[in-house]
Amino acid sequence: MPEIMAALYGGAGPEWELREVPVPEPGPGRVLVRARAVALNHADASVLATADPTAGGTGAPYLAGYEFAGEVAALGEGVTGPEVGTRVMGTTPGSFAQYVPVDHRHVVPVPEGLGYEQACALPTGLLTEHGALTRGGFESGQAVLITGATSSVGLIGVQVARALGASTIIATTRSAARGALLRDVGADEVVATAEADLTDAVLGITGGEGVDLVLDHVGGQTFAACLPATRVDGSVVNIGRLDRAAATIDLDALSYRHLRVRGVSFGFSRPAELGAVLSGAADALTPALLDGRVRALIDSTYGFDGATEAMRRLRSHRALGKIVLTVP
Ligand SMILES: NC(=O)c1ccc[n+]([C@@H]2O[C@H](COP(=O)([O-])OP(=O)(O)OC[C@H]3O[C@@H](n4cnc5c(N)ncnc54)[C@H](OP(=O)(O)O)[C@@H]3O)[C@@H](O)[C@H]2O)c1
Repeated sequence: MPEIMAALYGGAGPEWELREVPVPEPGPGRVLVRARAVALNHADASVLATADPTAGGTGAPYLAGYEFAGEVAALGEGVTGPEVGTRVMGTTPGSFAQYVPVDHRHVVPVPEGLGYEQACALPTGLLTEHGALTRGGFESGQAVLITGATSSVGLIGVQVARALGASTIIATTRSAARGALLRDVGADEVVATAEADLTDAVLGITGGEGVDLVLDHVGGQTFAACLPATRVDGSVVNIGRLDRAAATIDLDALSYRHLRVRGVSFGFSRPAELGAVLSGAADALTPALLDGRVRALIDSTYGFDGATEAMRRLRSHRALGKIVLTVP
């Protein structure tokens, strides 16, 4: 084990800094993972901005990143597995480093045949979309509406719903140009929200009934439009607020339809809960990961020395799928 490692830090300016720091010990209950590839998330941009002292941020230095894939290099006190050498993927704050100490419950094995660049881009999408479907009471044979479906987690959501036996998957994007991509990953119907009324379109597709379950990544008035597009006793789960957090909803649509509305934000889960959500997703979806029914779409890959460009790409909101960094 080396003594020094490369790691990406925020808190000094508008961009990450590549630093050399001591390799950490895993600590009780943790495993130390030699990371080989890591993936960016929305939270990386907002946390970096909040810490940027040149723009009124805290200036507090922090090790960046959440998602990673690599192999187990050491076990902390009280940890019996996964064995050293096991290929794992997972999520923890501070993953953009060569060695990542992580709660042993927050890693799962990388399915056979999957490379690290693909694996590192999966944990957030899998746990978020499978966790949201589970919390929404999803059952095979149900019709699902997924808003903001071209988002990187939304694309995983479409594939996960398909793999778990959804009857009809309706996916939304703002522009019709991305309809073909959504059909490729498993959507039966695509609604381009710049061109069609979301509620009317979904009611038209479902014979006036509405869908059983909504996974909403958009929030705002898109969330409001999902309520009357959901069948009696159905569920609406809010995952993201790509548009905005505030919405004006029609309580009649909620009450007359006896809807259940839930919110999920798995980054704010307790450690044992997050472990259960991640392992639940991995258990349910390993067959689909093995045969390629569920895959992360990779937008672009950079080295650690290209981290600033990777962050620019994230901020541009032009990425389609995940942005990955290979770890030196
Ligand atoms: N709850 C959780 O635990 C959890 C976990 C991960 C992510 N999230 C949230 O889920 C959302 C998606 O995350 P992501 O990283 O996958 O996003 P992403 O890949 O950056 O999503 C980009 C896509 O979002 C759509 N979009 C952007 N702005 C929009 C707007 N104003 N209205 C409607 N659609 C818009 C665009 O699709 P079109 O141009 O095709 O419309 C764009 O291609 C974010 O809000 C994120 O914070 C939540």
